[in-house]
Amino acid sequence: MCGEFKLTPSVFAADLADFAEQVAQLKASGADMLHFDVMDGRFVERIAFGADHLRMLRAMTELPIEVHLMVERPEDCIASMIEAGADIVVFHVEATTRVLSCLRRIRALGAKAGVALSPATSEESLRYIVDDLDKVIVMTVNPGEGGQSFVTGMLPKIRKIRALLGDSPVDLGVDGSVDAQTIKLCAEAGANVFVSGGYLLKGSIAANMDSLRAALSEAG
Ligand code: DX5
Ligand code: ZN
Repeated sequence: MCGEFKLTPSVFAADLADFAEQVAQLKASGADMLHFDVMDGRFVERIAFGADHLRMLRAMTELPIEVHLMVERPEDCIASMIEAGADIVVFHVEATTRVLSCLRRIRALGAKAGVALSPATSEESLRYIVDDLDKVIVMTVNPGEGGQSFVTGMLPKIRKIRALLGDSPVDLGVDGSVDAQTIKLCAEAGANVFVSGGYLLKGSIAANMDSLRAALSEAG
């Protein structure tokens, strides 16, 4: 924990051969929550992780788990993800015509509810649903694609969302190419929760967590 900022490592970037050990290191180095990506090969090209994997992760750690659904028709898998241990379920507004009903279903099943916005999606899609949100994630890369660079054009969007959220307690997260440089820009723009995968899990997890925290302390 670093002030009001939260670090939520993405286990998608973990080494599967060393998964349990890396999860333990993430907890030891002060992760606030784990970010668990689900990809269906349709909404995004890749396929990754399902409810059974989530159940395994749930058994490995007491850290809260946030599920990021990069799937078409998220309404079809909300219940199974919560049953498998999700504390927060975040789905893409682009992936369903039933955004409000998905948010309400997630809360009714006892989890926190959030939406993610792909880079091309306007912050205006949030304006009328703020009361039903616990979290927003701004994608700072296109979801589900590897090796991309941080989209700096998302910084004004983060600022606009921070203004749109006003005094509401909704968390504002960023996901995609978050490292010791980009985290500071996102924090200065108004984000308070940071997903990091490739940067955080390469080399020493403890040292990388420290450098992210140091960058956040510079952002104030
Ligand atoms: C991207 C995923 C991310 C990803 C982040 O589509 O949603 O959660 O694991 O990884 P990095 O930080 O490497 O971009
Ligand atoms: Zn993600």
